[in-house]
Amino acid sequence: MAQAVATLILAMAITPALEINNSSVVKATCAALKLQPYDYCVSVLSNDTAAGSAIDARGVATAAINMTAHKAASLSQVITYLIDELNSCREIYNSMEATLASVLTDLQPGRFNPAVLAKTEDASEDPTNCDILLFEGKSHKDPISDKNGGTNTLARLATAIVDFIVMKRQ
Ligand SMILES: *[C@@H]1O[C@H](CO)[C@@H](O)[C@H](O)[C@H]1NC(C)=O
Ligand SMILES: *[C@@H]1O[C@H](CO)[C@@H](O)[C@H](O)[C@H]1NC(C)=O
Ligand SMILES: *[C@@H]1O[C@H](CO)[C@@H](O)[C@H](O)[C@H]1NC(C)=O
Ligand SMILES: *[C@@H]1O[C@H](CO)[C@@H](O)[C@H](O)[C@H]1NC(C)=O
Repeated sequence: MAQAVATLILAMAITPALEINNSSVVKATCAALKLQPYDYCVSVLSNDTAAGSAIDARGVATAAINMTAHKAASLSQVITYLIDELNSCREIYNSMEATLASVLTDLQPGRFNPAVLAKTEDASEDPTNCDILLFEGKSHKDPISDKNGGTNTLARLATAIVDFIVMKRQ
């Protein structure tokens, strides 16, 4: 009983405070802005503890700038990860090119290398390796997914043709 009363008193003490800081200052600031959607302004800022507890427009501005700075920092981090991951993909594709150049030599008239099919198959897996690297990477971004897919499809076609000529030879 005493506990229930204490809970009630606590709830009554907390509720008005929440109503005051989550609304008036943020809402008044948002309402004063021209050319900014009011709903977006209120929903983004009332979600933030610092903005919600701001006592004036300057406090709301500080919170909004801080939120924006956090977003910029987190995007900068994502880009750093992505650059690393794309650099690894570039190495994969450089190696794929080198393997395919060597397959071209193997395919010259009058030549035959029994390893040509295995080499071609290896190369055709490279686009998928890049895709997996980006998929499992820290950036959680794969801006070249469709290019990886298209290159893999073409590589598999070329591999099937190499397989066909190798089979014919045997
Ligand atoms: C509110 O905050 C939560 C958790 O931090 C977040 O997932 C959500 O996207 C935010 N909503 C808006 C409108 O910013
Ligand atoms: C502020 O109040 C609105 C509704 O009045 C609510 O949807 C929102 O979650 C509240 N924000 C916080 C941070 O409590
Ligand atoms: C209201 O302000 C208090 C501190 O002043 C803070 O702890 C609380 O998170 C704020 N509530 C909202 C909804 O921003
Ligand atoms: C910005 O946000 C961080 C983390 O929420 C906080 O530690 C810092 O005090 C804030 N800076 C200002 C100027 O409000």
